[in-house]
Amino acid sequence: MSSGSPLASSSRSTRRSRELIERAANVVPGCSQTNSKRPSQFVQGVSPTHIERAQGSRLWDPDGNEYVDCNAALGPVLLGHNYPAVTEAVSRQLEDGTMYTMEHPLHVEVAELFTEVVPCAEMVKFAKSGNDVTALAAKVARAHTGRNVIATQGYHGWPDVWMGANEDLNRGIPDVVGDYTESFAYNDLESVERIFEDHPDDVAAIVTTPVNLEESEDGFLEDLRDLADREGAVLVFDEVLTGFRFAIGGAQEYFGVTPDLACFAKAMANGFPISALAGTREVMETIDDDDFFYSMTYAGDAVSLAAAKATITVQREEDVHGHIFRQGETLMNGYNELAAELELGDVTRANGFPPRFAIDFSDDVRIGSSTGDDSAGQLLRSLFMQEAHRRGVLYTGAHIPTYSHTDEDVEIVLDVYHECLTVVRDALEAGKVEQRLEGDPVGATLRERTGDEESSE
Ligand SMILES: Cc1ncc(COP(=O)(O)O)c(C=O)c1O
Repeated sequence: MSSGSPLASSSRSTRRSRELIERAANVVPGCSQTNSKRPSQFVQGVSPTHIERAQGSRLWDPDGNEYVDCNAALGPVLLGHNYPAVTEAVSRQLEDGTMYTMEHPLHVEVAELFTEVVPCAEMVKFAKSGNDVTALAAKVARAHTGRNVIATQGYHGWPDVWMGANEDLNRGIPDVVGDYTESFAYNDLESVERIFEDHPDDVAAIVTTPVNLEESEDGFLEDLRDLADREGAVLVFDEVLTGFRFAIGGAQEYFGVTPDLACFAKAMANGFPISALAGTREVMETIDDDDFFYSMTYAGDAVSLAAAKATITVQREEDVHGHIFRQGETLMNGYNELAAELELGDVTRANGFPPRFAIDFSDDVRIGSSTGDDSAGQLLRSLFMQEAHRRGVLYTGAHIPTYSHTDEDVEIVLDVYHECLTVVRDALEAGKVEQRLEGDPVGATLRERTGDEESSE
């Protein structure tokens, strides 16, 4: 392999990664803690399987190979790894301890910060993960309205209220749970209205991710707002991916539509584990009702709160989102231009929004002697990934730029992608995509398994 990438080297090995994955297979079901970090999400035998350290926009695997990060740890890293203002705030807090018998004053300060920057936030409750607050949102909506059914679109995590309705992933959940969750399609108002018709006066909430990878149709979110108001249901935006990433006030600020409740997690503390449910006083006060229960020992840990305060403060003082949009736009447009230049415009495309887009490969491509093979996209993506990882770009599919991505990083990624696309084009022309893969191809992502465009977990 000859490459112009400054991070490429012929001596790249992933031996330690492979040793670690063998040990993990013995003690960790599925080898990883997070669905998207499973070894089957990468080209097995070629890609690294672990990351040992990170700085700014760069990552290092256990074999010492350096990469430009493209995925920001699935979204949490907004400012960049080991971002000085966050690391300093966390280090200061560590010296004062992490948790106490009573709340640290920071929980009031960060809740107040939320109310200043997030449009729907009059009150805020903290938790640890996106799952916690999406499940809490559904429970609050049911308790507030006295209704049962949740109308939903998009990925919101593993709690029963969400996965109960997914026929492929509902093992371990009583059937009856799924009966109260109804799915609608993004950009399809009629599919939401049908749920209200089928369950008169029993729909508690409309829960949606505010963006999908496809362009949102004008007015869809406004229409959901009107429908929820008309029907007396709670409108919930799952902003776990979009919160603090599309704007400091999330997608609700970006699109100018304010929900009743919104869920935040990734990006709110630059990688520290904390999440939040924010919403109107009227709905949020339900949590304090005598017959409603919500509690969590770790929800108010002072270290994550210090990280959240520092992360939000940097966003207030600097043009974090302008930078992220610029870098994302250059990457997206640059990729689509490269694909067009190499006559691969029908084969691959960058879709989505600059702060979070995906590079996808079509299934409708001739690979070797077969046409329309439904694994064609996975094979092409795998070959592209293999070549990108070898050249020091940690492509995973989804692209999530950070505030630390420099113009040089963007240039390196696009130069590497030019080389990877050339390899893909040559393999397609030679009818040798599978032969040029040196490891097992990438398995189906959760996005593909759930049919959800936006999930990244
Ligand atoms: C939109 C959305 N909601 C909820 C979740 C679950 O969040 P977590 O993995 O932090 O529990 C995710 C995770 O990817 C997500 O993308």
